[in-house]
Amino acid sequence: MPDAAELLAIAVEIVREAGETARRMRVEGVSGVATKSTDTDVVTAADRAVERQVVDALRIRRPDDAVLGEEYGASGVPGGVRWILDPIDGTVNYLYDLPQYAVSLAAEVDGLVVAGVVRNPATGAEWTATLGGGAFHDGGRLRGSPQTELAQALVGTGFGYDPARRVYQAGVLHGLLGQVRDIRRFGSASLDLCAAAGGQLDAYYEKGLNPWDHAAGGLVATEAGLVVAGLDGAPPGLDMVVAAPPALFKPLHDRLVELDAAGGP
Ligand code: IPD
Repeated sequence: MPDAAELLAIAVEIVREAGETARRMRVEGVSGVATKSTDTDVVTAADRAVERQVVDALRIRRPDDAVLGEEYGASGVPGGVRWILDPIDGTVNYLYDLPQYAVSLAAEVDGLVVAGVVRNPATGAEWTATLGGGAFHDGGRLRGSPQTELAQALVGTGFGYDPARRVYQAGVLHGLLGQVRDIRRFGSASLDLCAAAGGQLDAYYEKGLNPWDHAAGGLVATEAGLVVAGLDGAPPGLDMVVAAPPALFKPLHDRLVELDAAGGP
Protein backbone atom coordinates (compact mmCIF):
# COMPACT_ATOMS: atom_id res chain seq x y z
CA MET A 1 0.00 0.00 0.00
CA PRO A 2 1.52 3.39 -0.97
CA ASP A 3 1.96 5.92 1.78
CA ALA A 4 -0.21 9.01 2.09
CA ALA A 5 2.51 11.37 0.87
CA GLU A 6 2.86 9.37 -2.35
CA LEU A 7 -0.90 9.42 -2.93
CA LEU A 8 -0.99 13.16 -2.22
CA ALA A 9 1.78 13.84 -4.75
CA ILE A 10 -0.20 11.99 -7.42
CA ALA A 11 -3.40 13.84 -6.48
CA VAL A 12 -1.75 17.26 -6.56
CA GLU A 13 -0.21 16.69 -9.99
CA ILE A 14 -3.50 15.44 -11.47
CA VAL A 15 -5.62 18.16 -9.87
CA ARG A 16 -3.33 20.93 -11.15
CA GLU A 17 -3.67 19.64 -14.72
CA ALA A 18 -7.42 19.12 -14.37
CA GLY A 19 -7.88 22.53 -12.76
CA GLU A 20 -6.25 24.09 -15.81
CA THR A 21 -8.85 22.36 -18.00
CA ALA A 22 -11.66 23.76 -15.84
CA ARG A 23 -10.17 27.26 -15.95
CA ARG A 24 -9.61 27.16 -19.72
CA MET A 25 -13.13 25.88 -20.40
CA ARG A 26 -14.52 28.69 -18.23
CA VAL A 27 -12.53 31.30 -20.17
CA GLU A 28 -13.73 29.82 -23.47
CA GLY A 29 -17.36 29.97 -22.28
CA VAL A 30 -19.42 27.43 -20.37
CA SER A 31 -21.07 24.81 -22.57
CA GLY A 32 -23.17 21.66 -22.21
CA VAL A 33 -25.25 23.05 -19.34
CA ALA A 34 -27.88 20.61 -18.10
CA THR A 35 -29.68 19.83 -14.86
CA LYS A 36 -29.38 16.65 -12.78
CA SER A 37 -31.31 15.71 -9.63
CA THR A 38 -33.48 18.87 -9.62
CA ASP A 39 -33.86 22.03 -11.71
CA THR A 40 -31.30 23.80 -9.52
CA ASP A 41 -28.67 21.03 -9.69
CA VAL A 42 -26.47 22.03 -12.63
CA VAL A 43 -23.81 20.17 -14.58
CA THR A 44 -21.63 21.52 -17.41
CA ALA A 45 -19.38 20.03 -20.08
CA ALA A 46 -16.46 21.06 -17.87
CA ASP A 47 -17.65 18.94 -14.91
CA ARG A 48 -17.69 15.92 -17.21
CA ALA A 49 -14.42 16.72 -19.00
CA VAL A 50 -12.54 17.30 -15.75
CA GLU A 51 -13.86 14.07 -14.24
CA ARG A 52 -12.84 12.09 -17.37
CA GLN A 53 -9.38 13.68 -17.32
CA VAL A 54 -8.81 12.87 -13.64
CA VAL A 55 -10.08 9.29 -13.98
CA ASP A 56 -7.92 8.69 -17.08
CA ALA A 57 -4.86 10.11 -15.31
CA LEU A 58 -5.52 7.90 -12.27
CA ARG A 59 -5.96 4.84 -14.50
CA ILE A 60 -2.48 5.43 -15.97
CA ARG A 61 -0.75 5.97 -12.62
CA ARG A 62 -2.83 3.64 -10.41
CA PRO A 63 -4.70 1.15 -12.63
CA ASP A 64 -5.91 -1.05 -9.77
CA ASP A 65 -7.55 1.67 -7.69
CA ALA A 66 -11.29 2.39 -7.44
CA VAL A 67 -12.76 5.83 -8.13
CA LEU A 68 -15.94 7.52 -6.94
CA GLY A 69 -16.74 10.68 -8.91
CA GLU A 70 -19.67 13.06 -8.78
CA GLU A 71 -20.57 12.82 -12.46
CA TYR A 72 -19.82 9.21 -13.45
CA GLY A 73 -20.16 7.42 -10.12
CA ALA A 74 -18.07 4.43 -9.06
CA SER A 75 -15.55 2.56 -11.21
CA GLY A 76 -12.70 0.13 -10.64
CA VAL A 77 -12.33 -2.69 -8.16
CA PRO A 78 -13.35 -1.95 -4.55
CA GLY A 79 -10.82 -2.64 -1.77
CA GLY A 80 -7.46 -0.97 -1.34
CA VAL A 81 -7.25 2.64 -2.52
CA ARG A 82 -10.39 4.54 -3.55
CA TRP A 83 -10.20 8.04 -5.01
CA ILE A 84 -13.08 10.41 -4.27
CA LEU A 85 -13.49 13.21 -6.79
CA ASP A 86 -15.57 16.32 -7.21
CA PRO A 87 -14.46 17.62 -10.62
CA ILE A 88 -16.02 21.04 -10.03
CA ASP A 89 -17.28 21.73 -6.53
CA GLY A 90 -19.25 24.94 -6.86
CA THR A 91 -20.72 24.34 -10.31
CA VAL A 92 -23.27 27.14 -9.91
CA ASN A 93 -20.44 29.59 -9.16
CA TYR A 94 -18.58 28.21 -12.19
CA LEU A 95 -21.64 28.79 -14.35
CA TYR A 96 -21.86 32.41 -13.23
CA ASP A 97 -18.10 33.02 -13.46
CA LEU A 98 -17.81 33.52 -9.70
CA PRO A 99 -14.22 32.58 -8.78
CA GLN A 100 -15.21 30.24 -5.95
CA TYR A 101 -15.08 26.70 -7.30
CA ALA A 102 -12.67 23.83 -6.79
CA VAL A 103 -11.37 20.53 -8.01
CA SER A 104 -11.40 18.23 -4.99
CA LEU A 105 -9.63 14.84 -4.88
CA ALA A 106 -9.11 12.56 -1.89
CA ALA A 107 -7.49 9.14 -1.50
CA GLU A 108 -9.17 6.71 0.85
CA VAL A 109 -7.47 3.54 2.10
CA ASP A 110 -9.63 0.91 3.77
CA GLY A 111 -12.39 3.45 4.28
CA LEU A 112 -10.16 6.13 5.79
CA VAL A 113 -9.29 9.34 3.91
CA VAL A 114 -5.49 9.58 4.05
CA ALA A 115 -4.71 12.32 1.53
CA GLY A 116 -6.60 15.18 -0.04
CA VAL A 117 -6.14 18.20 -2.26
CA VAL A 118 -8.55 21.03 -2.98
CA ARG A 119 -7.58 23.52 -5.69
CA ASN A 120 -9.35 26.66 -6.82
CA PRO A 121 -8.39 26.97 -10.49
CA ALA A 122 -9.71 30.55 -10.69
CA THR A 123 -7.25 31.83 -8.08
CA GLY A 124 -4.58 29.11 -8.10
CA ALA A 125 -5.03 28.60 -4.34
CA GLU A 126 -4.42 25.06 -3.15
CA TRP A 127 -4.99 23.18 0.12
CA THR A 128 -3.47 19.79 0.92
CA ALA A 129 -3.48 17.35 3.81
CA THR A 130 -2.32 13.89 4.74
CA LEU A 131 -3.63 11.89 7.66
CA GLY A 132 -1.42 12.68 10.64
CA GLY A 133 0.78 14.94 8.49
CA GLY A 134 -1.01 18.28 8.89
CA ALA A 135 -2.90 20.59 6.55
CA PHE A 136 -1.29 23.20 4.35
CA HIS A 137 -2.34 26.13 2.19
CA ASP A 138 0.20 27.14 -0.41
CA GLY A 139 3.00 25.86 1.83
CA GLY A 140 1.80 27.35 5.16
CA ARG A 141 0.49 25.10 7.93
CA LEU A 142 -3.19 25.56 8.87
CA ARG A 143 -4.46 25.67 12.44
CA GLY A 144 -8.11 26.76 12.27
CA SER A 145 -9.69 29.67 14.11
CA PRO A 146 -8.97 30.53 17.77
CA GLN A 147 -12.64 31.53 18.21
CA THR A 148 -14.33 29.96 21.26
CA GLU A 149 -17.65 31.84 21.43
CA LEU A 150 -20.52 30.75 19.23
CA ALA A 151 -22.01 34.24 19.52
CA GLN A 152 -18.87 35.62 17.84
CA ALA A 153 -18.45 32.92 15.25
CA LEU A 154 -18.60 33.46 11.51
CA VAL A 155 -20.22 30.24 10.31
CA GLY A 156 -20.31 28.93 6.76
CA THR A 157 -23.02 26.70 5.39
CA GLY A 158 -24.51 25.56 2.10
CA PHE A 159 -27.79 24.44 0.61
CA GLY A 160 -28.54 21.27 -1.31
CA TYR A 161 -30.61 20.99 -4.47
CA ASP A 162 -33.65 19.19 -3.08
CA PRO A 163 -36.47 21.70 -2.43
CA ALA A 164 -37.68 19.89 0.71
CA ARG A 165 -34.15 19.85 2.12
CA ARG A 166 -33.86 23.57 1.45
CA VAL A 167 -36.96 24.22 3.53
CA TYR A 168 -35.30 22.27 6.36
CA GLN A 169 -32.01 24.15 5.83
CA ALA A 170 -33.85 27.48 5.94
CA GLY A 171 -35.38 26.40 9.28
CA VAL A 172 -31.97 25.56 10.75
CA LEU A 173 -30.56 28.84 9.47
CA HIS A 174 -33.49 30.74 10.98
CA GLY A 175 -32.71 29.22 14.36
CA LEU A 176 -28.97 29.82 14.17
CA LEU A 177 -28.63 33.27 12.64
CA GLY A 178 -29.47 35.17 15.82
CA GLN A 179 -26.89 33.21 17.82
CA VAL A 180 -23.76 33.67 15.71
CA ARG A 181 -21.75 36.63 14.43
CA ASP A 182 -22.93 35.97 10.89
CA ILE A 183 -23.47 33.33 8.23
CA ARG A 184 -21.67 32.90 4.91
CA ARG A 185 -22.79 30.80 1.94
CA PHE A 186 -19.94 30.78 -0.60
CA GLY A 187 -21.18 27.89 -2.74
CA SER A 188 -18.39 25.30 -2.61
CA ALA A 189 -18.34 22.90 0.34
CA SER A 190 -14.73 21.85 -0.14
CA LEU A 191 -13.58 25.48 -0.19
CA ASP A 192 -15.77 26.21 2.85
CA LEU A 193 -14.04 23.42 4.76
CA CYS A 194 -10.65 24.79 3.69
CA ALA A 195 -11.73 28.29 4.77
CA ALA A 196 -12.61 26.88 8.20
CA ALA A 197 -9.22 25.12 8.28
CA GLY A 198 -7.51 28.45 7.61
CA GLY A 199 -9.65 30.51 10.01
CA GLN A 200 -11.42 32.54 7.28
CA LEU A 201 -14.54 30.93 8.70
CA ASP A 202 -14.78 29.98 12.37
CA ALA A 203 -16.86 26.91 11.56
CA TYR A 204 -18.94 25.23 8.85
CA TYR A 205 -21.94 22.95 8.72
CA GLU A 206 -24.20 21.52 6.06
CA LYS A 207 -26.68 18.69 5.83
CA GLY A 208 -26.83 16.35 2.87
CA LEU A 209 -23.31 16.61 1.48
CA ASN A 210 -22.01 13.78 -0.65
CA PRO A 211 -18.60 12.18 0.00
CA TRP A 212 -17.06 14.03 -2.98
CA ASP A 213 -18.07 17.36 -1.41
CA HIS A 214 -16.32 16.78 1.90
CA ALA A 215 -13.70 14.00 1.55
CA ALA A 216 -10.65 16.17 0.76
CA GLY A 217 -11.80 19.35 2.52
CA GLY A 218 -12.81 17.34 5.59
CA LEU A 219 -9.29 15.96 5.90
CA VAL A 220 -7.83 19.46 5.47
CA ALA A 221 -10.09 20.71 8.28
CA THR A 222 -9.34 17.74 10.55
CA GLU A 223 -5.62 18.08 10.03
CA ALA A 224 -5.90 21.80 10.83
CA GLY A 225 -7.14 20.72 14.27
CA LEU A 226 -10.89 21.03 13.73
CA VAL A 227 -13.39 18.46 14.86
CA VAL A 228 -15.23 17.20 11.76
CA ALA A 229 -18.18 14.93 12.46
CA GLY A 230 -21.81 14.22 11.77
CA LEU A 231 -24.54 15.14 14.24
CA ASP A 232 -24.20 11.69 15.81
CA GLY A 233 -20.50 12.31 16.41
CA ALA A 234 -19.51 9.68 13.83
CA PRO A 235 -17.41 10.51 10.76
CA PRO A 236 -19.50 12.62 8.40
CA GLY A 237 -21.68 10.87 5.85
CA LEU A 238 -24.85 12.15 4.24
CA ASP A 239 -25.99 13.50 7.60
CA MET A 240 -25.03 16.98 8.80
CA VAL A 241 -21.32 17.67 8.50
CA VAL A 242 -20.10 19.94 11.30
CA ALA A 243 -16.54 21.29 11.25
CA ALA A 244 -15.34 23.54 14.05
CA PRO A 245 -12.35 24.10 16.34
CA PRO A 246 -12.68 21.95 19.49
CA ALA A 247 -13.98 24.76 21.75
CA LEU A 248 -16.61 25.79 19.24
CA PHE A 249 -17.68 22.33 18.17
CA LYS A 250 -19.84 21.47 21.18
CA PRO A 251 -21.94 24.65 21.32
CA LEU A 252 -22.46 24.61 17.55
CA HIS A 253 -23.13 20.89 17.44
CA ASP A 254 -25.58 21.07 20.38
CA ARG A 255 -27.51 23.92 18.77
CA LEU A 256 -27.65 22.07 15.45
CA VAL A 257 -28.93 18.93 17.20
CA GLU A 258 -31.77 20.99 18.69
CA LEU A 259 -32.60 22.61 15.36
CA ASP A 260 -32.33 19.30 13.53
CA ALA A 261 -34.80 17.74 15.95
CA ALA A 262 -37.27 20.41 14.86
CA GLY A 263 -37.52 18.26 11.76
CA GLY A 264 -37.22 18.09 8.02
CA PRO A 265 -35.50 15.86 5.48
C1 IPD B 1 -22.33 21.81 -4.06
C2 IPD B 1 -21.52 22.88 -3.36
C3 IPD B 1 -22.39 23.72 -2.46
C4 IPD B 1 -23.11 22.86 -1.44
C5 IPD B 1 -23.94 21.80 -2.15
C6 IPD B 1 -23.03 20.95 -3.02
P1 IPD B 1 -21.53 20.98 -6.47
O1 IPD B 1 -21.50 20.98 -4.84
O2 IPD B 1 -20.50 22.29 -2.61
O3 IPD B 1 -21.64 24.66 -1.73
O4 IPD B 1 -23.95 23.68 -0.67
O5 IPD B 1 -24.53 20.99 -1.17
O6 IPD B 1 -23.79 19.98 -3.70
O7 IPD B 1 -22.89 20.50 -6.87
O8 IPD B 1 -21.27 22.37 -6.93
O9 IPD B 1 -20.44 20.02 -6.83
